[in-house]
Amino acid sequence: MEEPNGRSARIVGLGTAVPSRVLTNADFERMVETTDEWILARTGIRERHVVGPDESVATIAVEAGKRAMEDAGVAPEEVELVILATATPEQPIPATATIIQPRLGVSKATCFDLSAACSGFLYALRVARQFIVTGDVSTAMVIGAETLSRYTDYTDRSTCILFGDGAGAAVLQAAPAGEGILRSAWHSDGTFADFIQMPGGGSRFPPNVKEHIDAKLPFIKMRGNETFKVAVRSLTEVCLEVLDGTPIEEVKLFVPHQANQRIVSAVGERLGLKDEQVYMNLERFGNTSSASIPLALREAIDRGRLQRGDLLLMAAFGGGLTWAASLVRW
Ligand code: UT7
Repeated sequence: MEEPNGRSARIVGLGTAVPSRVLTNADFERMVETTDEWILARTGIRERHVVGPDESVATIAVEAGKRAMEDAGVAPEEVELVILATATPEQPIPATATIIQPRLGVSKATCFDLSAACSGFLYALRVARQFIVTGDVSTAMVIGAETLSRYTDYTDRSTCILFGDGAGAAVLQAAPAGEGILRSAWHSDGTFADFIQMPGGGSRFPPNVKEHIDAKLPFIKMRGNETFKVAVRSLTEVCLEVLDGTPIEEVKLFVPHQANQRIVSAVGERLGLKDEQVYMNLERFGNTSSASIPLALREAIDRGRLQRGDLLLMAAFGGGLTWAASLVRW
């Protein structure tokens, strides 16, 4: 999708936060029947950060949001829109975005949550971009924040080793056409809704029923191997869609959702990406769902892997199923 009215939107500030508690593969060897070797070989993960008793999705989202505003040099009162992408909200009512509003000091912002699982950050980025491009909003903040550890079944070895907690925020403002977010694509397919799901905790299986807890319904469940195959295909297709014929060599950096090293390698191979074009930090954070792209992007910039003017490709895939990509002139 090209820019209407000769306007684009760009990320002018990025901030991230992870809780301090770390779970290593050795910790999981003590919890379930698994090994460091299996986890590393099948996923690429060594450790993940998880929230402690005094932390929650709001505490890390606030930390990331404050850092993003500081990085952008934007005062909280300038922010007109906050979209918080999360699958693990603070509570069902009200939206986590409104819960964090006073703590961020963004008193003039309209705040709401967006639910697109691991694709949430790119979905939210596209929504915010649209408001900026039309001139409705001058400064927006998009946050991806998750505490999947709260919904992880630590007796299920096929899922518990995967997830970590974290938050990443981006401040967006207008940019001339040809800069910032050049093209975005997003897709959903609910026929695969049961591939990644947390069946309980909502209105179908409310959390206040003992049988639902006993049946472990308010925990994340995944048909991992089937998800893996769809993820490789969908991520490749959505990247080609936003590249729209742009030669892959022109992409300076590919920052994918960090779900599994093998998924990213397979996508990279299909797209013809070289290793030095791909940024991964999955090894240290695990799958942080909607937080994974901003967590990786912030780190990539800090390590000098992306400069102003470089072409950045981001892509995500997750529950829904949902998938999305953005091509950005940084
Ligand atoms: O972020 C949203 C999108 N998420 C994804 O894209 C995740 C996609 N899926 C995956 O990353 C992978 O499917 C997993 C890492 C979850 C699993 O890897 P896999 O290669 O697909 O393994 P599998 O599910 O086919 O299981 C292979 C074997 C099974 O044993 P049997 O039936 O062959 O005897 C599992 O029971 O590996 C076993 N297994 C484990 N063994 C040791 C599953 N989990 C573990 C474990 N340790 N933690």
